[in-house]
Amino acid sequence: MPSVLIKLRSSALHGLDGLQVEVEVDSIRGLPGQSIVGLPDAAVRESRDRVKFAITNSGFEFPAGYFTINLAPGNIRKEGPLYDLPIAVGMLLSSGQIKAENLHQTIILGELSLNGEVRPINGVLPICLSARDAGIKRALVANDNADEAALVSDLEVIPVKDLLEAAEYLNGDRTILPHAVDLKSIFDAGQEFDLDFADVKGQQHAKRALMIAAAGSHNILMIGPPGSGKTMLAKRLPGIMPPLSMEEALAVTKLYSVTGLLSGKAALITRRPFRSPHHTTSDIGIIGGGRLPRPGEVSLAHHGILFLDEFPEFEREVLEVLRQPLEDGKVTVSRALATFTYPAEFMLVAAMNPCPCGNYMDPVKNCLCPPHKLQRYWSKLSRPLLDRIDIQIEVPRLKNEELIKQPSGELSLVIRERVIAARERQTARLKGSSAHSNARMTPKQTREFCRLDEEAEALLKTAILHLKLSGRSYDRILKVARTIADLEGSEIISSAHVAEATQYRSLDAKGGDYNV
Ligand SMILES: Nc1ncnc2c1ncn2[C@@H]1O[C@H](COP(=O)(O)OP(=O)(O)O)[C@@H](O)[C@H]1O
Ligand SMILES: [Mg+2]
Ligand SMILES: [Zn+2]
Repeated sequence: MPSVLIKLRSSALHGLDGLQVEVEVDSIRGLPGQSIVGLPDAAVRESRDRVKFAITNSGFEFPAGYFTINLAPGNIRKEGPLYDLPIAVGMLLSSGQIKAENLHQTIILGELSLNGEVRPINGVLPICLSARDAGIKRALVANDNADEAALVSDLEVIPVKDLLEAAEYLNGDRTILPHAVDLKSIFDAGQEFDLDFADVKGQQHAKRALMIAAAGSHNILMIGPPGSGKTMLAKRLPGIMPPLSMEEALAVTKLYSVTGLLSGKAALITRRPFRSPHHTTSDIGIIGGGRLPRPGEVSLAHHGILFLDEFPEFEREVLEVLRQPLEDGKVTVSRALATFTYPAEFMLVAAMNPCPCGNYMDPVKNCLCPPHKLQRYWSKLSRPLLDRIDIQIEVPRLKNEELIKQPSGELSLVIRERVIAARERQTARLKGSSAHSNARMTPKQTREFCRLDEEAEALLKTAILHLKLSGRSYDRILKVARTIADLEGSEIISSAHVAEATQYRSLDAKGGDYNV
Protein backbone atom coordinates (compact mmCIF):
# COMPACT_ATOMS: atom_id res chain seq x y z
CA MET A 1 0.00 0.00 0.00
CA PRO A 2 1.44 3.41 -0.91
CA SER A 3 2.11 5.58 2.11
CA VAL A 4 0.94 9.16 2.44
CA LEU A 5 2.33 12.12 4.31
CA ILE A 6 0.53 12.42 7.63
CA LYS A 7 0.43 15.53 9.79
CA LEU A 8 -0.69 15.38 13.40
CA ARG A 9 -0.82 17.97 16.12
CA SER A 10 1.08 17.72 19.35
CA SER A 11 2.91 20.13 21.63
CA ALA A 12 6.19 20.99 23.29
CA LEU A 13 6.57 22.46 26.74
CA HIS A 14 8.38 25.76 26.85
CA GLY A 15 8.61 26.86 30.45
CA LEU A 16 4.99 27.11 31.52
CA ASP A 17 3.59 27.30 27.99
CA GLY A 18 2.73 24.70 25.43
CA LEU A 19 3.94 25.40 21.90
CA GLN A 20 2.16 23.87 18.95
CA VAL A 21 4.18 21.08 17.34
CA GLU A 22 3.32 19.28 14.14
CA VAL A 23 4.30 15.63 13.88
CA GLU A 24 4.89 14.78 10.21
CA VAL A 25 5.19 11.14 9.29
CA ASP A 26 6.32 10.04 5.83
CA SER A 27 7.95 6.96 4.40
CA ILE A 28 9.77 5.67 1.36
CA ARG A 29 10.26 2.17 0.12
CA GLY A 30 13.49 0.57 1.11
CA LEU A 31 15.15 -0.96 4.07
CA PRO A 32 13.03 -0.74 7.22
CA GLY A 33 13.98 1.96 9.68
CA GLN A 34 12.93 5.25 11.23
CA SER A 35 14.56 8.51 11.98
CA ILE A 36 13.19 11.33 14.10
CA VAL A 37 14.27 14.86 13.21
CA GLY A 38 13.45 18.33 14.58
CA LEU A 39 15.68 18.78 17.65
CA PRO A 40 14.59 15.67 19.55
CA ASP A 41 16.26 14.83 22.87
CA ALA A 42 17.26 11.32 23.90
CA ALA A 43 13.82 10.42 25.29
CA VAL A 44 12.19 11.45 22.01
CA ARG A 45 14.67 9.42 19.97
CA GLU A 46 13.90 6.38 22.13
CA SER A 47 10.31 6.63 20.85
CA ARG A 48 11.34 4.48 17.92
CA ASP A 49 11.69 1.35 20.05
CA ARG A 50 8.61 1.97 22.17
CA VAL A 51 6.47 2.72 19.12
CA LYS A 52 7.65 -0.40 17.29
CA PHE A 53 6.72 -2.75 20.13
CA ALA A 54 3.52 -0.89 20.97
CA ILE A 55 2.30 -1.19 17.36
CA THR A 56 2.99 -4.91 17.00
CA ASN A 57 1.78 -5.75 20.52
CA SER A 58 -1.51 -3.97 19.81
CA GLY A 59 -2.23 -6.32 16.93
CA PHE A 60 -1.17 -4.05 14.08
CA GLU A 61 1.46 -4.67 11.49
CA PHE A 62 4.66 -2.74 11.80
CA PRO A 63 4.72 -0.92 8.46
CA ALA A 64 7.46 -1.65 5.95
CA GLY A 65 9.71 1.06 4.51
CA TYR A 66 11.88 3.81 5.88
CA PHE A 67 9.99 6.33 8.02
CA THR A 68 11.00 9.88 8.67
CA ILE A 69 9.28 11.60 11.55
CA ASN A 70 9.67 15.36 11.55
CA LEU A 71 8.76 17.42 14.60
CA ALA A 72 8.11 20.96 13.41
CA PRO A 73 9.06 23.73 13.99
CA GLY A 74 12.65 22.55 13.96
CA ASN A 75 14.07 25.37 16.05
CA ILE A 76 12.56 24.41 19.39
CA ARG A 77 13.85 21.53 21.44
CA LYS A 78 11.52 18.55 21.90
CA GLU A 79 11.92 16.52 25.03
CA GLY A 80 10.24 13.69 26.81
CA PRO A 81 8.22 10.72 25.65
CA LEU A 82 4.99 12.57 24.78
CA TYR A 83 5.37 12.05 21.01
CA ASP A 84 5.10 8.24 21.22
CA LEU A 85 1.35 8.23 20.72
CA PRO A 86 1.20 10.72 17.83
CA ILE A 87 4.11 8.96 16.11
CA ALA A 88 2.47 5.54 16.43
CA VAL A 89 -0.88 6.92 15.24
CA GLY A 90 0.92 8.66 12.37
CA MET A 91 2.54 5.41 11.25
CA LEU A 92 -0.78 3.55 11.38
CA LEU A 93 -2.45 6.30 9.35
CA SER A 94 0.43 6.52 6.91
CA SER A 95 0.33 2.80 6.24
CA GLY A 96 -3.45 2.86 5.82
CA GLN A 97 -4.19 0.62 8.82
CA ILE A 98 -6.58 3.20 10.23
CA LYS A 99 -8.49 6.20 8.88
CA ALA A 100 -8.55 9.71 10.27
CA GLU A 101 -12.25 10.07 11.08
CA ASN A 102 -11.82 11.94 14.34
CA LEU A 103 -8.65 13.89 13.92
CA HIS A 104 -9.88 17.37 13.12
CA GLN A 105 -8.49 20.08 15.48
CA THR A 106 -7.19 17.33 17.76
CA ILE A 107 -4.01 17.32 19.78
CA ILE A 108 -2.43 13.95 20.65
CA LEU A 109 -0.24 13.46 23.72
CA GLY A 110 1.07 10.35 25.40
CA GLU A 111 3.87 7.98 26.15
CA LEU A 112 3.53 4.36 25.08
CA SER A 113 4.60 1.30 26.99
CA LEU A 114 5.94 -1.67 25.05
CA ASN A 115 2.58 -3.41 25.29
CA GLY A 116 0.72 -0.44 23.86
CA GLU A 117 -0.62 1.15 27.02
CA VAL A 118 -0.86 4.97 26.93
CA ARG A 119 0.97 6.51 29.85
CA PRO A 120 0.54 9.99 31.36
CA ILE A 121 2.98 12.78 30.57
CA ASN A 122 4.11 15.91 32.43
CA GLY A 123 2.69 19.32 31.64
CA VAL A 124 -0.74 18.30 30.34
CA LEU A 125 -2.47 21.30 31.95
CA PRO A 126 -0.27 24.05 30.45
CA ILE A 127 -0.15 22.19 27.13
CA CYS A 128 -3.93 21.91 26.94
CA LEU A 129 -4.46 25.52 28.03
CA SER A 130 -2.15 26.75 25.28
CA ALA A 131 -3.71 24.37 22.74
CA ARG A 132 -7.21 25.62 23.57
CA ASP A 133 -6.03 29.20 23.16
CA ALA A 134 -4.55 28.25 19.78
CA GLY A 135 -7.92 26.98 18.57
CA ILE A 136 -7.57 23.24 19.24
CA LYS A 137 -10.94 21.64 20.03
CA ARG A 138 -10.00 18.19 21.31
CA ALA A 139 -7.20 16.43 23.18
CA LEU A 140 -6.44 12.71 23.08
CA VAL A 141 -4.66 11.87 26.35
CA ALA A 142 -3.87 8.98 28.70
CA ASN A 143 -6.60 7.98 31.16
CA ASP A 144 -4.35 9.15 33.96
CA ASN A 145 -4.05 12.61 32.40
CA ALA A 146 -7.77 13.02 31.77
CA ASP A 147 -8.73 14.81 35.01
CA GLU A 148 -5.93 17.30 34.57
CA ALA A 149 -6.74 18.00 30.91
CA ALA A 150 -10.42 18.35 31.74
CA LEU A 151 -9.65 21.34 33.99
CA VAL A 152 -9.39 23.30 30.73
CA SER A 153 -12.74 24.68 29.68
CA ASP A 154 -13.91 24.52 26.06
CA LEU A 155 -11.68 21.57 25.25
CA GLU A 156 -13.04 18.08 24.56
CA VAL A 157 -10.88 15.56 26.42
CA ILE A 158 -10.82 12.01 25.06
CA PRO A 159 -9.13 9.60 27.49
CA VAL A 160 -7.57 6.47 26.02
CA LYS A 161 -6.27 3.36 27.74
CA ASP A 162 -4.02 2.08 25.00
CA LEU A 163 -2.97 2.46 21.38
CA LEU A 164 -5.71 0.12 20.20
CA GLU A 165 -8.39 2.24 21.87
CA ALA A 166 -6.89 5.40 20.37
CA ALA A 167 -6.75 3.78 16.93
CA GLU A 168 -10.33 2.55 17.14
CA TYR A 169 -11.54 5.94 18.25
CA LEU A 170 -9.75 7.75 15.42
CA ASN A 171 -10.98 5.14 12.96
CA GLY A 172 -14.57 5.86 14.00
CA ASP A 173 -15.09 2.33 15.40
CA ARG A 174 -15.32 3.30 19.04
CA THR A 175 -17.22 5.98 20.88
CA ILE A 176 -15.45 7.59 23.80
CA LEU A 177 -17.37 10.16 25.79
CA PRO A 178 -15.47 13.35 26.56
CA HIS A 179 -14.14 13.35 30.10
CA ALA A 180 -15.53 15.93 32.53
CA VAL A 181 -14.61 16.89 36.09
CA ASP A 182 -16.65 18.64 38.73
CA LEU A 183 -14.35 21.52 39.58
CA LYS A 184 -16.33 22.67 42.58
CA SER A 185 -16.32 19.31 44.32
CA ILE A 186 -12.58 18.86 43.70
CA PHE A 187 -12.10 22.33 45.11
CA ASP A 188 -14.27 21.81 48.18
CA ALA A 189 -12.63 18.49 49.04
CA GLY A 190 -9.25 18.67 50.68
CA GLN A 191 -9.89 21.76 52.79
CA GLU A 192 -9.28 19.86 56.01
CA PHE A 193 -6.01 19.95 57.89
CA ASP A 194 -4.61 17.39 60.31
CA LEU A 195 -2.45 19.72 62.37
CA ASP A 196 -4.10 22.34 64.55
CA PHE A 197 -2.79 25.39 66.41
CA ALA A 198 -4.80 24.22 69.39
CA ASP A 199 -2.17 21.47 69.90
CA VAL A 200 0.49 24.08 70.66
CA LYS A 201 0.86 24.98 74.32
CA GLY A 202 1.63 28.56 75.31
CA GLN A 203 3.54 30.58 72.69
CA GLN A 204 0.70 33.10 72.39
CA HIS A 205 3.11 35.70 71.08
CA ALA A 206 4.35 33.41 68.30
CA LYS A 207 0.84 32.34 67.38
CA ARG A 208 -0.29 35.93 67.04
CA ALA A 209 2.73 36.79 64.90
CA LEU A 210 2.02 33.79 62.65
CA MET A 211 -1.61 34.86 62.30
CA ILE A 212 -0.48 38.32 61.22
CA ALA A 213 2.03 36.79 58.80
CA ALA A 214 -0.68 34.58 57.27
CA ALA A 215 -3.13 37.48 57.05
CA GLY A 216 -0.79 39.76 55.09
CA SER A 217 1.44 37.10 53.52
CA HIS A 218 4.42 38.50 55.41
CA ASN A 219 7.76 36.71 55.58
CA ILE A 220 8.53 35.60 59.11
CA LEU A 221 11.57 34.37 61.02
CA MET A 222 11.32 32.45 64.29
CA ILE A 223 14.35 32.36 66.57
CA GLY A 224 14.40 30.07 69.55
CA PRO A 225 16.14 27.19 71.29
CA PRO A 226 15.69 23.58 70.14
CA GLY A 227 12.40 22.06 71.23
CA SER A 228 10.56 25.34 71.70
CA GLY A 229 8.03 24.42 69.04
CA LYS A 230 9.21 26.39 65.97
CA THR A 231 8.81 23.49 63.56
CA MET A 232 5.53 22.53 65.18
CA LEU A 233 4.18 26.06 64.71
CA ALA A 234 5.35 26.35 61.10
CA LYS A 235 3.69 23.08 60.10
CA ARG A 236 0.37 24.42 61.34
CA LEU A 237 0.44 27.51 59.17
CA PRO A 238 -1.30 25.97 56.12
CA GLY A 239 -4.38 25.43 58.28
CA ILE A 240 -4.83 29.15 58.91
CA MET A 241 -4.00 30.43 55.42
CA PRO A 242 -6.84 31.76 53.26
CA PRO A 243 -8.03 29.30 50.60
CA LEU A 244 -6.65 29.53 47.07
CA SER A 245 -8.80 31.21 44.45
CA MET A 246 -9.50 29.14 41.34
CA GLU A 247 -7.10 31.31 39.36
CA GLU A 248 -4.35 30.77 41.95
CA ALA A 249 -5.06 27.04 42.06
CA LEU A 250 -4.59 26.77 38.29
CA ALA A 251 -1.36 28.77 38.43
CA VAL A 252 0.03 26.47 41.14
CA THR A 253 -1.16 23.33 39.37
CA LYS A 254 0.62 24.34 36.16
CA LEU A 255 3.93 24.49 38.05
CA TYR A 256 3.41 21.05 39.58
CA SER A 257 2.29 19.68 36.24
CA VAL A 258 5.45 20.66 34.36
CA THR A 259 7.60 19.42 37.25
CA GLY A 260 5.85 16.03 37.18
CA LEU A 261 4.66 16.33 40.76
CA LEU A 262 0.94 15.91 40.20
CA SER A 263 -0.14 12.51 41.33
CA GLY A 264 -2.78 10.80 39.21
CA LYS A 265 -5.44 11.42 41.86
CA ALA A 266 -5.03 15.13 42.55
CA ALA A 267 -5.45 16.81 39.19
CA LEU A 268 -5.94 20.23 40.73
CA ILE A 269 -3.92 21.60 43.62
CA THR A 270 -6.52 23.15 45.90
CA ARG A 271 -4.41 23.89 48.97
CA ARG A 272 -1.69 26.42 49.36
CA PRO A 273 1.63 24.64 48.91
CA PHE A 274 3.87 24.08 51.92
CA ARG A 275 7.41 23.32 50.82
CA SER A 276 10.12 22.52 53.33
CA PRO A 277 13.33 21.72 51.46
CA HIS A 278 16.18 20.33 53.54
CA HIS A 279 19.12 22.64 54.21
CA THR A 280 21.35 20.52 51.97
CA THR A 281 19.22 21.42 48.91
CA SER A 282 21.33 23.04 46.16
CA ASP A 283 20.70 26.48 44.74
CA ILE A 284 19.32 24.85 41.57
CA GLY A 285 16.90 22.85 43.70
CA ILE A 286 15.75 26.02 45.44
CA ILE A 287 15.67 28.44 42.52
CA GLY A 288 15.07 26.08 39.63
CA GLY A 289 17.27 24.99 36.78
CA GLY A 290 18.66 21.98 35.05
CA ARG A 291 19.57 21.49 31.42
CA LEU A 292 16.16 22.71 30.40
CA PRO A 293 15.28 24.85 33.41
CA ARG A 294 12.56 23.46 35.67
CA PRO A 295 10.79 25.25 38.53
CA GLY A 296 12.55 25.03 41.90
CA GLU A 297 11.26 25.11 45.46
CA VAL A 298 10.57 28.86 45.37
CA SER A 299 8.14 28.27 42.48
CA LEU A 300 6.66 25.10 43.92
CA ALA A 301 5.84 27.30 46.94
CA HIS A 302 4.04 29.84 44.68
CA HIS A 303 0.95 31.23 46.48
CA GLY A 304 1.98 29.21 49.51
CA ILE A 305 4.70 28.78 52.09
CA LEU A 306 8.41 28.15 51.71
CA PHE A 307 9.56 26.84 55.08
CA LEU A 308 13.31 26.94 55.62
CA ASP A 309 13.99 25.17 58.88
CA GLU A 310 17.47 25.56 60.42
CA PHE A 311 17.80 28.69 58.29
CA PRO A 312 21.55 29.42 58.79
CA GLU A 313 22.43 25.83 57.85
CA PHE A 314 21.59 26.59 54.21
CA GLU A 315 24.52 27.43 51.94
CA ARG A 316 25.21 31.13 51.73
CA GLU A 317 24.70 31.06 47.92
CA VAL A 318 21.30 29.48 48.42
CA LEU A 319 20.26 32.17 50.89
CA GLU A 320 21.50 34.94 48.63
CA VAL A 321 19.65 33.67 45.53
CA LEU A 322 16.43 33.95 47.52
CA ARG A 323 16.64 37.71 47.32
CA GLN A 324 15.41 38.05 43.75
CA PRO A 325 12.22 36.01 44.17
CA LEU A 326 11.56 37.58 47.57
CA GLU A 327 11.66 40.98 45.92
CA ASP A 328 10.05 40.28 42.53
CA GLY A 329 7.72 37.36 43.20
CA LYS A 330 9.23 35.55 40.25
CA VAL A 331 12.48 33.98 39.26
CA THR A 332 14.40 33.87 36.01
CA VAL A 333 16.35 30.71 35.36
CA SER A 334 18.88 30.70 32.55
CA ARG A 335 20.68 27.70 31.26
CA ALA A 336 22.52 27.03 28.02
CA LEU A 337 19.39 25.84 26.26
CA ALA A 338 16.78 28.33 27.41
CA THR A 339 15.76 31.09 29.79
CA PHE A 340 12.45 30.82 31.56
CA THR A 341 10.70 32.97 34.12
CA TYR A 342 8.62 31.15 36.69
CA PRO A 343 6.30 32.74 39.26
CA ALA A 344 7.53 32.53 42.88
CA GLU A 345 5.18 34.52 45.10
CA PHE A 346 5.74 32.63 48.30
CA MET A 347 5.64 33.51 51.96
CA LEU A 348 9.00 32.75 53.55
CA VAL A 349 8.84 31.11 56.94
CA ALA A 350 12.25 30.56 58.47
CA ALA A 351 13.23 29.03 61.78
CA MET A 352 16.55 28.96 63.56
CA ASN A 353 18.31 28.37 66.84
CA PRO A 354 19.95 31.49 68.27
CA CYS A 355 23.36 29.76 68.04
CA PRO A 356 24.79 26.36 67.07
CA CYS A 357 24.34 24.92 70.59
CA GLY A 358 20.94 26.53 70.94
CA ASN A 359 21.36 28.15 74.35
CA TYR A 360 22.53 31.62 73.41
CA MET A 361 20.65 34.24 75.46
CA ASP A 362 18.82 31.51 77.36
CA PRO A 363 17.96 32.75 80.86
CA VAL A 364 18.86 29.40 82.43
CA LYS A 365 21.18 27.38 80.21
CA ASN A 366 24.69 28.35 79.18
CA CYS A 367 25.80 28.83 75.61
CA LEU A 368 28.96 26.85 74.88
CA CYS A 369 29.65 28.29 71.43
CA PRO A 370 33.03 29.98 70.86
CA PRO A 371 32.57 33.56 69.60
CA HIS A 372 33.95 32.84 66.11
CA LYS A 373 31.41 30.06 65.64
CA LEU A 374 28.61 32.32 66.75
CA GLN A 375 29.85 34.99 64.38
CA ARG A 376 30.03 32.56 61.43
CA TYR A 377 26.53 31.27 62.22
CA TRP A 378 24.95 34.69 62.11
CA SER A 379 27.00 36.02 59.22
CA LYS A 380 25.21 33.57 56.91
CA LEU A 381 22.18 35.85 57.14
CA SER A 382 23.03 39.03 55.30
CA ARG A 383 21.46 42.34 56.15
CA PRO A 384 19.61 42.62 52.82
CA LEU A 385 18.14 39.16 53.37
CA LEU A 386 17.00 39.92 56.92
CA ASP A 387 15.59 43.25 55.74
CA ARG A 388 13.17 41.32 53.56
CA ILE A 389 11.74 39.42 56.51
CA ASP A 390 8.87 41.55 57.78
CA ILE A 391 8.30 39.76 61.05
CA GLN A 392 11.05 38.48 63.32
CA ILE A 393 10.13 36.88 66.60
CA GLU A 394 11.67 34.99 69.46
CA VAL A 395 10.13 31.69 70.45
CA PRO A 396 11.36 30.97 73.98
CA ARG A 397 11.52 27.58 75.61
CA LEU A 398 8.29 26.71 77.43
CA LYS A 399 8.45 26.83 81.20
CA ASN A 400 7.88 23.53 82.98
CA GLU A 401 4.53 24.61 84.35
CA GLU A 402 3.38 25.51 80.84
CA LEU A 403 4.55 22.17 79.46
CA ILE A 404 2.51 20.09 81.88
CA LYS A 405 -0.65 22.10 81.26
CA GLN A 406 -3.14 21.04 78.62
CA PRO A 407 -2.99 23.15 75.47
CA SER A 408 -5.67 25.82 75.63
CA GLY A 409 -5.30 27.91 72.50
CA GLU A 410 -7.79 28.64 69.75
CA LEU A 411 -8.61 26.21 66.97
CA SER A 412 -6.98 26.84 63.61
CA LEU A 413 -10.46 27.12 62.09
CA VAL A 414 -11.23 30.17 64.25
CA ILE A 415 -7.92 31.86 63.50
CA ARG A 416 -8.38 31.16 59.80
CA GLU A 417 -11.72 32.98 59.73
CA ARG A 418 -9.97 36.10 60.99
CA VAL A 419 -7.20 35.71 58.46
CA ILE A 420 -9.73 35.35 55.65
CA ALA A 421 -11.60 38.49 56.74
CA ALA A 422 -8.35 40.47 56.86
CA ARG A 423 -7.31 39.17 53.45
CA GLU A 424 -10.70 40.12 51.98
CA ARG A 425 -10.16 43.73 53.07
CA GLN A 426 -6.80 43.68 51.29
CA THR A 427 -8.17 42.14 48.12
CA ALA A 428 -10.89 44.78 47.95
CA ARG A 429 -8.41 47.59 48.57
CA LEU A 430 -5.88 46.30 46.05
CA LYS A 431 -8.44 45.37 43.41
CA GLY A 432 -7.14 45.74 39.87
CA SER A 433 -3.47 45.72 40.87
CA SER A 434 -1.05 42.82 40.74
CA ALA A 435 -0.66 42.78 44.52
CA HIS A 436 -3.08 40.54 46.41
CA SER A 437 -1.74 41.01 49.92
CA ASN A 438 -0.27 43.76 52.05
CA ALA A 439 3.21 42.24 51.84
CA ARG A 440 3.17 42.62 48.05
CA MET A 441 2.14 46.29 47.94
CA THR A 442 4.36 48.50 45.79
CA PRO A 443 6.06 51.51 47.45
CA LYS A 444 3.39 53.72 45.89
CA GLN A 445 0.56 51.58 47.25
CA THR A 446 2.25 51.52 50.64
CA ARG A 447 2.28 55.33 50.72
CA GLU A 448 -1.32 55.47 49.59
CA PHE A 449 -2.81 52.79 51.84
CA CYS A 450 -0.67 53.10 54.96
CA ARG A 451 -1.28 56.70 55.98
CA LEU A 452 -0.57 57.32 59.64
CA ASP A 453 -2.11 59.84 61.98
CA GLU A 454 0.21 62.24 63.81
CA GLU A 455 0.63 60.12 66.89
CA ALA A 456 1.45 56.97 64.93
CA GLU A 457 3.81 58.91 62.67
CA ALA A 458 5.68 60.32 65.66
CA LEU A 459 5.94 56.90 67.25
CA LEU A 460 7.35 55.36 64.09
CA LYS A 461 9.88 58.17 63.69
CA THR A 462 11.13 57.62 67.22
CA ALA A 463 11.41 53.90 66.66
CA ILE A 464 13.33 54.40 63.41
CA LEU A 465 15.82 56.70 65.14
CA HIS A 466 16.13 54.50 68.18
CA LEU A 467 16.55 51.22 66.29
CA LYS A 468 18.52 52.74 63.37
CA LEU A 469 16.15 51.12 60.89
CA SER A 470 16.77 51.15 57.16
CA GLY A 471 14.35 52.63 54.64
CA ARG A 472 13.31 49.13 53.75
CA SER A 473 12.42 48.30 57.35
CA TYR A 474 10.30 51.45 57.47
CA ASP A 475 8.09 50.18 54.65
CA ARG A 476 7.97 46.71 56.18
CA ILE A 477 6.69 48.11 59.46
CA LEU A 478 4.01 50.10 57.64
CA LYS A 479 2.81 47.00 55.80
CA VAL A 480 2.69 44.87 58.92
CA ALA A 481 0.84 47.67 60.74
CA ARG A 482 -1.63 47.72 57.83
CA THR A 483 -2.24 43.98 58.32
CA ILE A 484 -2.71 44.35 62.08
CA ALA A 485 -5.30 47.06 61.43
CA ASP A 486 -6.97 44.83 58.81
CA LEU A 487 -7.23 42.00 61.34
CA GLU A 488 -9.04 44.41 63.61
CA GLY A 489 -11.31 45.52 60.81
CA SER A 490 -9.95 49.04 60.98
CA GLU A 491 -9.20 51.21 57.96
CA ILE A 492 -7.17 53.56 60.15
CA ILE A 493 -3.70 52.54 61.27
CA SER A 494 -3.35 53.60 64.90
CA SER A 495 -0.23 54.06 67.01
CA ALA A 496 -1.01 50.74 68.75
CA HIS A 497 -0.80 48.98 65.37
CA VAL A 498 2.50 50.67 64.60
CA ALA A 499 3.86 49.85 68.05
CA GLU A 500 3.08 46.17 67.61
CA ALA A 501 4.54 46.08 64.09
CA THR A 502 7.74 47.68 65.36
CA GLN A 503 8.07 44.95 67.98
CA TYR A 504 8.40 42.42 65.20
CA ARG A 505 11.75 43.84 64.12
CA SER A 506 13.47 41.94 66.90
CA LEU A 507 16.74 41.61 65.00
CA ASP A 508 16.95 45.33 64.32
CA ALA A 509 16.37 45.94 67.99
CA LYS A 510 18.60 43.13 69.23
CA GLY A 511 21.22 43.40 66.51
CA GLY A 512 24.01 44.00 69.02
CA ASP A 513 23.02 41.15 71.29
CA TYR A 514 22.81 38.73 68.41
CA ASN A 515 26.16 39.79 67.05
CA VAL A 516 24.78 40.62 63.60
N1 LIG B 1 4.53 24.77 72.62
C1 LIG B 1 4.49 23.44 72.55
N2 LIG B 1 3.33 22.78 72.78
C2 LIG B 1 3.26 21.45 72.71
N3 LIG B 1 4.30 20.66 72.39
C3 LIG B 1 5.49 21.26 72.16
C4 LIG B 1 5.64 22.67 72.22
N4 LIG B 1 6.92 22.97 71.94
C5 LIG B 1 7.53 21.80 71.71
N5 LIG B 1 6.68 20.77 71.82
C6 LIG B 1 7.00 19.35 71.64
O1 LIG B 1 8.39 19.25 71.36
C7 LIG B 1 8.60 18.69 70.09
C8 LIG B 1 9.73 19.42 69.40
O2 LIG B 1 9.27 20.69 68.97
P1 LIG B 1 9.78 21.36 67.65
O3 LIG B 1 8.67 22.08 67.02
O4 LIG B 1 10.45 20.35 66.79
O5 LIG B 1 10.85 22.35 68.24
P2 LIG B 1 11.90 23.24 67.46
O6 LIG B 1 11.57 23.20 66.02
O7 LIG B 1 11.74 24.60 68.04
O8 LIG B 1 13.24 22.65 67.77
C9 LIG B 1 7.30 18.79 69.37
O9 LIG B 1 7.11 17.75 68.45
C10 LIG B 1 6.29 18.74 70.48
O10 LIG B 1 6.00 17.40 70.79
MG1 LIG C 1 12.80 22.48 64.54
ZN1 LIG D 1 25.58 28.40 71.75
